[in-house]
Amino acid sequence: MLGLLVAAYLIGSIPTALWVGRAFFGLDIREHGSGNSGATNTFRVLGKKPGSFVMAVDVLKGWVATSLATVMLNQGAILPSQLLYYQLACGVLAVVGHIYPIWAGFRGGKGVATILGVMLAIAPATVGVCILVFVAVLLVSRYVSLSSMSAGVVFALLQLLPPFRPDNQLLVWFGFVVAGLLIYTHRANIQRLRAGTESRVPMPWDKK
Ligand code: G3P
Repeated sequence: MLGLLVAAYLIGSIPTALWVGRAFFGLDIREHGSGNSGATNTFRVLGKKPGSFVMAVDVLKGWVATSLATVMLNQGAILPSQLLYYQLACGVLAVVGHIYPIWAGFRGGKGVATILGVMLAIAPATVGVCILVFVAVLLVSRYVSLSSMSAGVVFALLQLLPPFRPDNQLLVWFGFVVAGLLIYTHRANIQRLRAGTESRVPMPWDKK
C-alpha cells in the first residue's frame, strides 16, 4: 500500500509547467511572471496553448492519482469501505507532490488544477458549482488567485450543505483542508492583493 501512496506523490510531482517551459521555450517558468510553476503563470508567460496543456495535465495528475485507489479496489487489494480513505490519501499526496515536487527541487505550483482533478474523481457534483464561482469571481475581479481561493472555500462550504453534504464526514474535513491549503499556497498572492499589486487577467473586450 505504501507503493500506492508513493506513486500518487510521484504523479503529482510531475512539474508540467517547468518541463514545458524548459523543453519548448528554453526558460524556467519560476523566473518569470508570478514565479509560480502552474497553469495560470504558463498562460501569462507562454500563451494559451502551453497554458491549456499544463492545465489539462495538472488536472489529470490529480484525477489519475486519486483513481489509483479505485484500481486497487478492483484488484481486491483494498476493501470497499476503505476506498474513500485511500482516494483522499492519494489525492492529497498528489497535491502535495504538485506543490513540493521531488523532480523540481520541491519548488512547484499552488495546487489549484491538481485539486480540481481530485475533486472530479471524488466529489464531481461540487465541481460545476466551484467552476461557476471561479468564473464569476474572475469576471468581476480579474484575479485568478482570488477566484481559486473563493472556489476552494465554496468547495468546503458545499460539503456542509444539502444536497452536496456527503455521508462520510471525512469529505467535510477534506473540504476544509483543501480551502486551508489553497489559502496557504496563495499567501504571496494575498499580500499582493492587499498591496494592490496582484496582476489582473485582461479580458477580450477590454479597450486596448
Ligand atoms: O494557479 C494558481 C493561481 O491561483 C494563481 O497563480 O501565477 O497568479 O500566482 P499566479
